[in-house]
Amino acid sequence: MRREDLYQQAKESLCDVGVERFNEAHRELLYHILLLQEHLEAVLTLDDQTLDWKLVDQSIDFLETYTLEHLKAEEVLMVASHYAGYAEHKAEHEKLIVDFLEIKGRIMASRKKEDVSELKDFLLGWLFKHTSCTDMEYKGKLDLSLV
Ligand SMILES: [Fe+2]
Ligand SMILES: [Fe+2]
Repeated sequence: MRREDLYQQAKESLCDVGVERFNEAHRELLYHILLLQEHLEAVLTLDDQTLDWKLVDQSIDFLETYTLEHLKAEEVLMVASHYAGYAEHKAEHEKLIVDFLEIKGRIMASRKKEDVSELKDFLLGWLFKHTSCTDMEYKGKLDLSLV
C-alpha cells in the first residue's frame, strides 16, 4: 500500500485527545514514521554498507526533534492546567526518550537496517498505545484557553 493511503487509513485509528494542536502533532508523527519506513523499504535491496544513511538519519533526526517538542508542549499544558496525572505522564514520556535514544545510538554505531526497522515498529507501537491510553487520560482535563 502507498504511504499516503496507509497514512489516511492509519490516522483514522488515532484517538481524539481533546486538544486539536496535539491531535495534529500525533498525525504529523504518524506521517513521519511512515516516511522513515518508506526510506527503509527503498533501500531494502541494498546491503548495510551501500545504503544511503543520510535519508534515514534525516528522518530519525526529524522524528526526534518533533517528538521532543510535542512531549514538551503536552507537559507545559499539563503543568499550567494543574493536571493531577502529570508526574505519571511525564515519566512515560521520559521512558520513550530513553528508549528512542538507545535504539538511535545503536543505529548510529552499527548501521544495521534491522535496528531502523525496530525503531520504526517501536515508534509506531508507542504512538498508538500512548495516544490511545495515556494521552486520552488528560482529555477534558486540560485548560484549552492556554493552548
Ligand atoms: Fe501526545
Ligand atoms: Fe503524552
